[in-house]
Parts: sequence; C-alpha cells; structure tokens
Amino acid sequence: MKNSREQWGSRLGFILAASGSAVGLGNIWKYPHMAGQNGGAAFTVVYLLCILIVGLPILLGELAIGRKTQLSPVGAFNKLSNLSNWKWVGFLGVASAFVILSFYGVVGGWTLKYTLFALSGGFNSLSGSPDLSSQIFTEFIGSSFQPIFWQLIFMSFCMGIIIKGVKSGIEGGAKIMMPLILIILGLLVFKGLSLEGGKKGLEFLFKPKFSDLNPSSIVMALGHAFFTLSLGMGTMITYGSYLDEKQNLFTSAIWIILLDTFIAMLAGTAIFTIVFAMGADPSAGAGLIFVVLPTIFPQIGGGAIWGTLFFFILFMAALTSAISILEVITAYFIDEKGWSRNKATLLFGGIISIVGVFCSLSLGEFNIAALLDISFFDFLDELSSKYMLPIGGALTALFILSKWSVKTFLTELLIGVKELKLDKSLLNSILQILLIVSSLVVGLIIINELFDLLFNQSLQKLAGF
Ligand code: TRP
Repeated sequence: MKNSREQWGSRLGFILAASGSAVGLGNIWKYPHMAGQNGGAAFTVVYLLCILIVGLPILLGELAIGRKTQLSPVGAFNKLSNLSNWKWVGFLGVASAFVILSFYGVVGGWTLKYTLFALSGGFNSLSGSPDLSSQIFTEFIGSSFQPIFWQLIFMSFCMGIIIKGVKSGIEGGAKIMMPLILIILGLLVFKGLSLEGGKKGLEFLFKPKFSDLNPSSIVMALGHAFFTLSLGMGTMITYGSYLDEKQNLFTSAIWIILLDTFIAMLAGTAIFTIVFAMGADPSAGAGLIFVVLPTIFPQIGGGAIWGTLFFFILFMAALTSAISILEVITAYFIDEKGWSRNKATLLFGGIISIVGVFCSLSLGEFNIAALLDISFFDFLDELSSKYMLPIGGALTALFILSKWSVKTFLTELLIGVKELKLDKSLLNSILQILLIVSSLVVGLIIINELFDLLFNQSLQKLAGF
C-alpha cells in the first residue's frame, strides 16, 4: 500500500499547498482587525516573534514527523513511538479537523454568498449604511435555508478537490488559487493606495503604538501565530507525508511562513486603505469584513468589481484551508483503515456537512448547544482554537522532546539540506530550547484559558496588569 502513496508533483506545488492551508480566514479576516486594534506594528512585531519562536519549531516538527513516517498523524505517532499512547495525539488531530471543518464550512458558504451578492450589485443598496448592512448580514446567517445551501456548495467544492487526490486535487487547486489570491490582493492594495486618504490606513496598520499593546494582546498574538500556520492538528504532518527526501524542510518552512505573513499584511493594507479613504470605522472588529466593507465598496469607482474580487479571494483562501482540514480525516481512513479515497471523503465530508448544518442553524432559531449559553457555532470555534489546537501543538513539541528526541528530529531535518552553515550541536541546542519554550508558552495559554473559563478571571488580570 505504501508504494502507491501519492507524492507532491513539485516543491513549488507543495509550498503552495501548505501555504494555502495556512492562508485562510485567519489572514484576511482575523489578522487585520486584531493588528489594527492592538497597537498596529507593535502587535505585528510581537506576532512575528511568536511565529519564529513558537510557530517555526512546531511547523518543522510536524513536517519532519510526516515525511519521516510517510503517514498521516495517527499512524505517524504510532510508528515513531512504537505503538504507545502517543497515537492519541494523532486522534486528537483527527477530532480537531472534524470540529473545525464543521464551522469553517459554514463561513466558507458565507464567502460564496457574499461573492455573488457583490457581483449582482447588491452592495449598492447598503452604501453608507452600516446598520442596514449589519441587519442584512445577521438575518442572512441566522436564516434556515440560505446559509445551509451555500455551506453545502462550499463543502461540495472541498470534497470534489480531495477526491481528485494529492497531486491533481490539492496541489492542482493550490497552484491556481494561490497565485490568483496574490495577484488580486496586489490589485486591491494598488486600488486602496490610489484612493485619496488611503495612506492613513497604512499608518493605522503599521505605525507602532506600543501603548496599545497589553498582555492580552500578547496572548492573542501567540494564539494567532499558532492558528494561522494551521498547527496543532496534524495538517502539516499529513502534508509532510507526501514529501520525498530531496526536499529541504527548513527552506520550505520559511517559505510557508513568509507567504502566510505577506498575504496577511497585503490583506490588512487593502482593507485599511479602503476603510480610511472612505471614512468608515476601522475598529469595527469582527464585523469589518461582512458588515463594513459591503457599505464602502459601492463608494469607490468600479466598486461592484472590487467587492466581488475581495470576497472571491476570501472564498479561495477559505477553500485551500478547508481542503487541508478534510485531507487529515481522509488520509487517516486511507492509511489506517485501508478505505478508498472516495469512500473516506464522501462519508466524512458528508457527516461534517451535517454537523455544519447544526452549526449554521445555531446562529438562528435552533441552537443544540443552548444549555451552554453559547451558540453551537461558537462552541465548536472556541473548543478547537482555544483548547484542541494548542493542546495538540504542545503535545507535538513534548513528543519530540521526550520520545522522538531532538537528535533524531534534527537528523530528519538535515536530510535534503545540502550545506549546513551552523554547527550541528548548536542547532540541536537551539531546537531544544525553542521546543521547550513553545511547549511552555502554549501550555500557559491553555491554563490561562481554563482559568478564565472556570473562574472568569484570566491570569494576566490576576497578576495586576
Ligand atoms: N490557518 C487557517 C487560517 O489562517 C486556519 C486553520 C487553523 C487551519 N488550523 C487549521 C486550516 C488547520 C487548516 C488546517 O485561517
């Protein structure tokens, strides 16, 4: 079975697929408003440090585990730990994939609906009326049929790509969608900068305001560094398992990080130059994309086209991430249960779509998590991004430190590296320190969240910040 395992067709294809997983709603929707509200460039500096200190070692770890074993997470942890309990970290990854895709698919559906909404000129009636826009958005996501219809279409795209396999499906899709995302974002940035007053948006996003930076924004930057690189649920293990030994994992990881960060900054620039040029409220937070942007696109020349392009890249970014989530589940059933790709994808893509229907309904009249006092949608979102992913990431770092050994990890990393500029034992120590720091830091975030959940009091507040 292993001989027939699919591999990426090219190094570029792999980098585009992996950065396609990383670039998602997190980059275009979450990063810009978080940076804008938490100190601009000051936030970005902290976020970049977090990416290098916490993100890079775990990204390298996941890629190396996947390539070494040529297996998806459950099999990979099983093989490297000689069938011990570490396989549960793999199962946690599969479970996280299930949870995340259930609500990610719902938002994917919204991006599709808004692309067509913009294309049809529907934003015109919202011009300059944030209240109306907000009402229309809330009514849309809370209604019973429309969002489910779009979610099912989004999930069908996702399953269609995964069924086509690693090379022609995932890689082929990323090779088309990633360059398109870059080109269209580039055009939007150009447009934004050319608008009168647009440059003020650059200041908002990039001028360092250290006084706006507080401990909770640092925790936020950390969590986001982790989320934006798709770490902690074995996505990068799965993608790494389709790599051969010729690839240099260091440079690949750096490329993935650079592309992910660059696209987040481009998105932030496009959004804030347009928001400032049109005098809209830059601190609208999470509602910025679906509520504020539709009210200002009609005010710029060719607004229907720019609006359509914007939501179209949001759709593509969501899709290249969603396929990487479904692939974790599909690969598990192929590797461990010997299922066919078609069967695994259709069955689990189908089940996730059904769970997604309940997520979508929970934003309207039918909330199956009503007892918990939050919507089922928010429940799955918080469960995964606050607990499951950080726990998965911290355990991956601990696995390397305590079971696989940093030395074996480094040996795997150095395969494919032609010339090593650093001393090997120095590199070994650096990796060890970074892994210890990242497991501690991520551990602290989880404890902080739990504390907050149980006692309604976060550690930074208790410490008197
Ligand atoms: N990185 C994605 C984004 O920025 C979100 C994400 C988190 C993700 N974990 C993932 C995507 C795992 C795919 C797989 O939106």
